[in-house]
Amino acid sequence: MENTSKKKTVLSLIQPTGTPTLGNYLGALKNWVMMSKEYDCFFGEADLHSITVRTSPEDLNSRSIEMFAILIAMGLDPEKSIIFCQSHVPAHAQLGWILDCYTQFGEAARMTQFKDKSAKHADNINLGLFTYPTLMAADILIYNADYVPIGADQKQHLELTRDIANRFNGLYGNFFKVPEPFIGKSGARVMSLQEPDKKMSKSDTNQKSFILVTEPADSIVKKIKSAVTDSEARVYYSEEKPGVANLMEIYSACTGRSYEQIEQEFEGKGYGAFKASVAETVVEELKPLQAEYARLIKDRGYLEKCATEGAKKASAVADNTVKECMKLVGFWQY
Ligand code: TYM
Repeated sequence: MENTSKKKTVLSLIQPTGTPTLGNYLGALKNWVMMSKEYDCFFGEADLHSITVRTSPEDLNSRSIEMFAILIAMGLDPEKSIIFCQSHVPAHAQLGWILDCYTQFGEAARMTQFKDKSAKHADNINLGLFTYPTLMAADILIYNADYVPIGADQKQHLELTRDIANRFNGLYGNFFKVPEPFIGKSGARVMSLQEPDKKMSKSDTNQKSFILVTEPADSIVKKIKSAVTDSEARVYYSEEKPGVANLMEIYSACTGRSYEQIEQEFEGKGYGAFKASVAETVVEELKPLQAEYARLIKDRGYLEKCATEGAKKASAVADNTVKECMKLVGFWQY
């Protein structure tokens, strides 16, 4: 694929499985907005991935529209970045199939997320859950992405993507760009507020463990104030203090301050003052997104127009990659 722009290409997707958490936001979405100012970007929602876990048609539909609104509300500009919904670009599934045939069973079976999700949804260990990472590889390779901004939990999938790209390139010549993960210095692994040795996740049954990006200010404050810490009452970064370390990570990702600076700021102050500052910072961080989201979600016409245009622009690139890829593999061209 020819890229006439000198800028590097960035791609990342998020599953529309519900409102994003503060973890999704600090680990990935905030970096999307930052990178969108500098690079040629493709961002979107991985709705095909989201049906690997059973979802009602109503939820899938409404969550997809809500997620699209959130992506624009948080600051992505549909005029500058290509924002799209994965199922609107059928070439992803097409390349996903081809890449399945260049991925070994054993490689896919090693994916920790597959193991975790199989354990969690033991009654529905479907083939989509197993081939999930090859569809993700297709999402990335189809746009020749240089960088993929993700949280730490997606790193293994990125490594598999690189392996698949290298294998294909080894067989057919240099075709796919081998992508690099972009993982932020802080926020890459936001943990549960109640069990800080577990990832913050919107599917957690304990509502107090996560913060949603659309959550009202008073609820954010309450959840951060009741976050699990320890009895030492001294703010410093240590793996022995996962609750405090998590709040420091959140504070650092919002403010850009280092752990040393945060330690100095709260020297001699207890957890009460620290938690109040973290809560206030998170509320302020999410305020513009929330105001814009409240406005956009009512404008269905605008969201549909953006999704249609995004799909058209993304398809132009994706269709071409699939065509060239199929030519290399030897499919009959007409
Ligand atoms: P998903 O939808 O689970 O999460 C979206 C992004 O949020 C990051 N993330 C977190 N970061 C920090 N702390 C957390 N607690 C946390 N939880 C989630 C994830 O790492 C991710 O970057 N497979 C992907 C979606 C996907 C994709 C892609 C991503 C499909 N195709 C192509 C990149 C490129 C997923 O399930 O993310």
